[in-house]
Amino acid sequence: MCGIVGYIGSQQRAIDAVLNGLTALEYRGYDSAGIAFLDGETIITNKQVGRVQALRDALGDDKTAMTAIGHTRWATHGGVTIKNAHPHYNSDQTIAVVHNGIIENHVELRNSLRAQGYIFVSDTDTEVVSHLIDLYRRSSKTFQEAFEQALGQLRGAYALGVITAEEPDVLYAARLSSPLVLGVGDGMCIVASDPSAVMEHTRRVVYLNDYEFIRAERDGTYHIKDFKHSLPVSRKAEVLDYDATKAGKGDYAHFMLKEIYEAPYTLRSATLGRIRVESSTTKLGGLENVTSQLRYIDRLVIVACGTSYYAGLVGEYLIEEIAGIPVEVQLASEFKYRNEPFSRSTALLAISQSGETADTIAALKKVEDYGCLRLGVVNTVGSTIARMTDAGVYCHAGPEQAVASTKAFIAQVTVLTLIALHLSNGASKLYRPLLAELDALPKKAETILAQAASMKRLAKKYAHYRDFMFLGRGYGYPCALEGALKLKETSYIHAEGYAAGEMKHGPLAMIDPDFPTFAIATHSPLLEKTYSNIEEIRARQGKVLAIATEGNETIARLADDVIYIPETLDQTSPLLVAIAMQLFSYYVAVTKGYDVDRPRNLAKSVTVE
Ligand code: G6P
Repeated sequence: MCGIVGYIGSQQRAIDAVLNGLTALEYRGYDSAGIAFLDGETIITNKQVGRVQALRDALGDDKTAMTAIGHTRWATHGGVTIKNAHPHYNSDQTIAVVHNGIIENHVELRNSLRAQGYIFVSDTDTEVVSHLIDLYRRSSKTFQEAFEQALGQLRGAYALGVITAEEPDVLYAARLSSPLVLGVGDGMCIVASDPSAVMEHTRRVVYLNDYEFIRAERDGTYHIKDFKHSLPVSRKAEVLDYDATKAGKGDYAHFMLKEIYEAPYTLRSATLGRIRVESSTTKLGGLENVTSQLRYIDRLVIVACGTSYYAGLVGEYLIEEIAGIPVEVQLASEFKYRNEPFSRSTALLAISQSGETADTIAALKKVEDYGCLRLGVVNTVGSTIARMTDAGVYCHAGPEQAVASTKAFIAQVTVLTLIALHLSNGASKLYRPLLAELDALPKKAETILAQAASMKRLAKKYAHYRDFMFLGRGYGYPCALEGALKLKETSYIHAEGYAAGEMKHGPLAMIDPDFPTFAIATHSPLLEKTYSNIEEIRARQGKVLAIATEGNETIARLADDVIYIPETLDQTSPLLVAIAMQLFSYYVAVTKGYDVDRPRNLAKSVTVE
């Protein structure tokens, strides 16, 4: 979704810094980009529909400025046009604003500003911000005072970057419910929606909290203020532990392929230092400070969105089976508005790759006053969700750039397996076998990746279908849901995930020779029941592509095509099944010639409701 960058420094490199920052944020998904910078006391702007490269080309080589803000826009209010691209201005173009989030009371503010003579040139919610600051500036003593007054009127979510011709040596930024990080370097400051945009300049960062704004100056000094309580904030910079080289695409054609191929490393990294196979022990440092509270939990509610939600569903099966704790998984967007009983002995567990998903943050906020434990399974270190939760376990998958989540799912399910083992206190008979299997999985993942050529052939064979059914039972059921999502996201094929047992209750009516089924038929106590479902599909001339365990000959007779994965436990099968399904979706998208890393209409980090 939208990304913002703002740079101020003593050297004249603000435009390049902002353009590079926007490039680093491209993976979040966007449809237009824009920049505003100060040339003396004049604000110059350039906006382009399309890629950041178009902005770079339009600006040419002559790019000197010390203060600049930039934006990648993912349209919410108003179409994809230059006039709707950010930055937005006040009427005399002395104030420029970039914004990630949604100003929920923009209609009300727009009407009131219009009544006072303000003329709007865009359809965006953001434009109210520049006019509102302008309005308050008429009566305020300083620009900062007007900025604070405007912030006090805005409802919704925002990360804002603001520059003004009146103070060319100052950059303002503010945050409410949308991510914002400040990078602090020698004689410069950079603000951005996520740390990947500041890495080029510094690893020293300060994460802003809600209701805080920054006033940064050209020499690199900055002040943070809590504008809700009107108090100065003093917060030390943290040093980012992040290897920028890992963020590149390397020799891979796409980030998605690279991230799928990182599966063996991801599996290893999620368990590193956390499992000891020889002594059959687990150690989750992130949960140590809540050990006593964990003992009293009698129910766990998992909240998440998208792929993280499906990882949560796998977690539900794992935690209930291994630790014996009842689990309920809810879509964060539903949970936050539901009126359900919630006792203090229920813990809330948020799962998020980015740690910045607006609905998941809102779910955590909802229970803020319930006195219950809030846990996180998060990939992005230092993100909002990581900071909001009482305790949690990081996924350690490294930055994920492709919009369709792949390695993060693998890491989330691995971590949820560890949490299930941790909560079982060693009591589960699955404890030892699971530890041994987790240790063996990276090698097994490699054997799936080695089948890329045959996966490519299968993708070519199935890419022309308009519809796809994904079926599974038990641990295969959440896999079916995630498999369908992956194919939809990357290949724009209508795909439905179903519990195989539900087939006869409706979906079977859809099956014909043009509606193939991807059946998850790995070794499990329910395998024979899945065979019956496959037979039912075949009896209706439906094509079946099955994913099965090596050595299964029955399936070869039942299905049109089979993808084999190595033998594994039923409980760890989602980890291997997911890799195979990710590869399949990737190659279908490539066959169809789509922009695999940036599917249409989708964003990597959904920071608005
Ligand atoms: C977006 C992404 C998905 C992701 C979901 C939840 O829709 O495109 O890949 O699964 O958000 O994101 P989170 O960062 O909270 O896991």
